[in-house]
Amino acid sequence: MKKSDVVKFILAECNNQLPKNNMGTAFAPTNIALCKYWGKRNQDINLPMTSSLSISLGDKGATTSISLAEKDKVMLNQQPIDMDSTFAKRLLAFLDLFRTNKNLSFNVETISTVPIAAGLASSACGFASIVMALNQLFGWELSEKELSIFARLGSGSASRSIWQGFVEWHAGKNEDGMDSYAEPFLSDWPEFCIGLLIVSDKEKTISSREAMQRTVTTSTLYSAWSKQVEQDLPLLKSAIRNQDFASVGKTAEANALAMHATMMSSWPPVIYNTPDTLTKMQKVWQLRADELEVYFTQDAGPNLKLLFLAKDRPDVEFIFPEVQLIQPFKETSKQ
Ligand code: PMV
Repeated sequence: MKKSDVVKFILAECNNQLPKNNMGTAFAPTNIALCKYWGKRNQDINLPMTSSLSISLGDKGATTSISLAEKDKVMLNQQPIDMDSTFAKRLLAFLDLFRTNKNLSFNVETISTVPIAAGLASSACGFASIVMALNQLFGWELSEKELSIFARLGSGSASRSIWQGFVEWHAGKNEDGMDSYAEPFLSDWPEFCIGLLIVSDKEKTISSREAMQRTVTTSTLYSAWSKQVEQDLPLLKSAIRNQDFASVGKTAEANALAMHATMMSSWPPVIYNTPDTLTKMQKVWQLRADELEVYFTQDAGPNLKLLFLAKDRPDVEFIFPEVQLIQPFKETSKQ
């Protein structure tokens, strides 16, 4: 199945092929996975090998407005984007899926509140906000499950950015991916804090798309990664339900390390860590030895995301003065 077939299938019930409104505007938060998605069973429509679970970051995300225009135009944080750039090309290829009439052109304006250079997946909130804005523009009235499937076609992790709070993305089994969508798991834990520790703001040497595929095809440890997820996902869900922070932190950290160990065993190897990443990890382990409950998770880059509770915020900020604090649940309630 191709992306365009998925879109046709979902929109088959919608009568309005032309926009119903002048403009669609929507906000979507970015998210950090605590049990990661690493590896696809279908690269065309981004079907994952395993399920995953994330936390959305409150008001850190993207607001996208889409209206009809004479010619396609993209603005990011009030700056026009070069239409020949990789960024614009990826976005336009995604919008092509939704041009119900070939002559439709769009004006897309995105404002991002994701901290600059934080190594946070901006594509997740970007694609999620685009599908939500298109839903409004066309007046499709799609369900959140359908929006999650559309967002998944842009980037896998975007399927989880339709909601706030903890979100689970079900891997699904069907070839058409209609059972591969995310849904909210739980949405309240006000004390839960995330700290961004920037190690480097340079562009990644290898994209997560390429790195994932290399891991699936060359790492002999890949089957162990699937087993790790099978074990971590239920553990995490029960720890979140019970607000057992030590268990959430330990499971999330072990899951991130297992993902990195798996990619490291690919060929050519994929290593996102820098010496500074390892120094920061060691500092976290030393803090835990000194009885401060702080854990980390890490995505496809050298930066770490600390996990801790609000009561330990002064200590964490004292030890890591450069940390950027995010309180996902507090920041949701401000909206
Ligand atoms: O959605 P993508 O293709 O950007 O991949 C995301 C991969 C990780 O961030 C490393 C893990 C995850 O589950 O978000």
